[in-house]
Amino acid sequence: MIRSARYHWKHQIGDILMIIVTGANGRLGRAVTERLLERVPAEEIGVSVRDVDAARDLGARGIRVRRGDFADPSSLAHAFEGASQVLIVSTDATGETALRAHRTAVDAAAAAGAGRILYTSHMGAHPASPFGPMPDHAATEAALRASGVPFTALRNGFYASSAVMLLGAALDTGELVAPEDGPVAWTDHADLADAAVLALTTGGDDLDGRTPALTGPEAIDLAGIAALVTRLTGRPIRRVVVSDADYRARLLAHGLPEARADLLVGLFAASRRGDFAPADPTLARLLGRPAVTLADVLTATVAPVAALRRSGRGGPASG
Ligand SMILES: NC(=O)c1ccc[n+]([C@@H]2O[C@H](COP(=O)([O-])OP(=O)(O)OC[C@H]3O[C@@H](n4cnc5c(N)ncnc54)[C@H](OP(=O)(O)O)[C@@H]3O)[C@@H](O)[C@H]2O)c1
Repeated sequence: MIRSARYHWKHQIGDILMIIVTGANGRLGRAVTERLLERVPAEEIGVSVRDVDAARDLGARGIRVRRGDFADPSSLAHAFEGASQVLIVSTDATGETALRAHRTAVDAAAAAGAGRILYTSHMGAHPASPFGPMPDHAATEAALRASGVPFTALRNGFYASSAVMLLGAALDTGELVAPEDGPVAWTDHADLADAAVLALTTGGDDLDGRTPALTGPEAIDLAGIAALVTRLTGRPIRRVVVSDADYRARLLAHGLPEARADLLVGLFAASRRGDFAPADPTLARLLGRPAVTLADVLTATVAPVAALRRSGRGGPASG
């Protein structure tokens, strides 16, 4: 099945097969590249990265490594050369900067003659979302549609690693302080990387155009996370609800830039609307196994930190 789908893409662009992955020095792009290597010959994979030195290990394994910066279209013409498919990993920027970057990448992939463009969108992508990156993703999806090139917008679930980030100093203080929130179907990076690789190598109805939300198996709010961490670590964590304004003031007092504080407040506004709540079975179906749970991720990340603290060897949690 994999081979026939790969030949499908090969057929579209003549005899060349070259999958380009952007952001391969980042967490998701690197995980996708590593997994692709298990399924596709190295000479059929290229990475487009801003720092080629940081990807030298991939070059040593036979992957084509070229410099590609979404802010520099000429670099993308070189980095995407000969692409049959391009996976555009969304940038960590927001607003007009992100949108310009993503549009430039879509245009460059189309100009390179790619037979298909894949993009890491988000389950909450919506033009009217109060969470900044979501309108950016929605606008990028519109640009993909307008490109005329077959595309896959992978509507990734909310990263479980963000839940770990939102815990902040809770292990130290025993309090998980945040505005009122809603349940989120937290999703593991590795599962999303596997799904992207399946999309690149197999295709399938769920993977044409905008995918269903690719999420973990259950939606959990911050009160649930506090209870989960309490159970996993033995450290009692109390959920404390503060107003958006109070939370924003606390973030600014901790030195966060205003734009970042506004972004986080917007996240809670969107989660209260239920934008990240639906746990969808598509990811597990694609993977052919259950998706990783938030409890699995917390067991691997937070529980060891708490154990170190108990033994007196761990420092305070970073915020
Ligand atoms: N689903 C979710 O809940 C969720 C949560 C947070 C973020 N995201 C999105 O998912 C993306 C991937 O996640 P991640 O964990 O892999 O993040 P990450 O480790 O921060 O990787 C982001 C990647 O974007 C690349 N990038 C940034 N600006 C670029 C530009 N101008 N041109 C080309 N590449 C650029 C970075 O390149 P360098 O390596 O050169 O810096 C980096 O490799 C994020 O960037 C963000 O858009 C999703």
